[in-house]
Amino acid sequence: MDRINDIDLKNWKESDVWTDSLWIINERDKNGKHDGFYHGNFVPQVPRQLIKKFSKQGDVVLDLFLGSGTTAYEAEALKRNFIGVDIVPEMIFHVESKLDKHDKYFYELLIGDSMSQETESEIKDVLNKHKKKSAQLVILHPPYADIIKFSQYKNDLSSAKSPSDFLQMFSKVLTTAKNLLEKDKYLAIVIGDAYKQSEWIPLGFYCMSEAQKLGFTVKSIVVKNMAGNRGKQNKEGIWKYRSLANDYYVFKHEYVIIFKKP
Ligand SMILES: C[S@@+](CC[C@H](N)C(=O)[O-])C[C@H]1O[C@@H](n2cnc3c(N)ncnc32)[C@H](O)[C@@H]1O
Repeated sequence: MDRINDIDLKNWKESDVWTDSLWIINERDKNGKHDGFYHGNFVPQVPRQLIKKFSKQGDVVLDLFLGSGTTAYEAEALKRNFIGVDIVPEMIFHVESKLDKHDKYFYELLIGDSMSQETESEIKDVLNKHKKKSAQLVILHPPYADIIKFSQYKNDLSSAKSPSDFLQMFSKVLTTAKNLLEKDKYLAIVIGDAYKQSEWIPLGFYCMSEAQKLGFTVKSIVVKNMAGNRGKQNKEGIWKYRSLANDYYVFKHEYVIIFKKP
């Protein structure tokens, strides 16, 4: 069987690739090009672990919610090709300015709506230009519905009017991902839940179900802690009080759900 990664199995004991389904990340890794300024970015360890475990050098990693480029910088450091898309032009310009030119690998960023067929065709054109047919790993870190508003664009998933509206939009992005991912390769969704009108909305499970409806097979559900959640920083006391006085727990985790495209 084809290997899914280039981890040196002869020295497996020395590997820094995580193998458990619980990821406790105490601190954001501050090395490399990451700047961490973007409200709603993920820590570099998340895309790093996914890229190391689910792709090989020279593979194409695709991120359809680029944001501040965390996946792009990790792909660059790990010698993968990379395509990133974001609906906000300023984010594309910002990340573009930080990526270097490489002879062997390509780094292509597109301003676009990842739900649209137009964006899908543009990505196919980029793949063709580089003599590639598809991506080998897709990483999706969508807005968690409207918890953080990223822009005023109506096709920004953070503009969704309700959880069901959000899921419809997310399913369209999943279709783009499915059409661009190679068979037997991997998709990872990084997502947390939401709380609306006194009800816990299990967005993570709903997103997982949308991917299953499109035929993706669930391979792992990783639970990771949310350390340093900016919205709650320095407010732990207030949140503890609110939880004790009410009938809910405070969000401290999110999901990294890994799927295989059959
Ligand atoms: C949670 S952030 C991603 C953060 C990123 N992982 C990082 O570390 O910076 C979600 C991003 O999705 C973008 N976005 C929302 N809707 C989109 C759409 N329809 N097409 C492309 N990008 C979209 C937002 O502009 C935002 O930058």
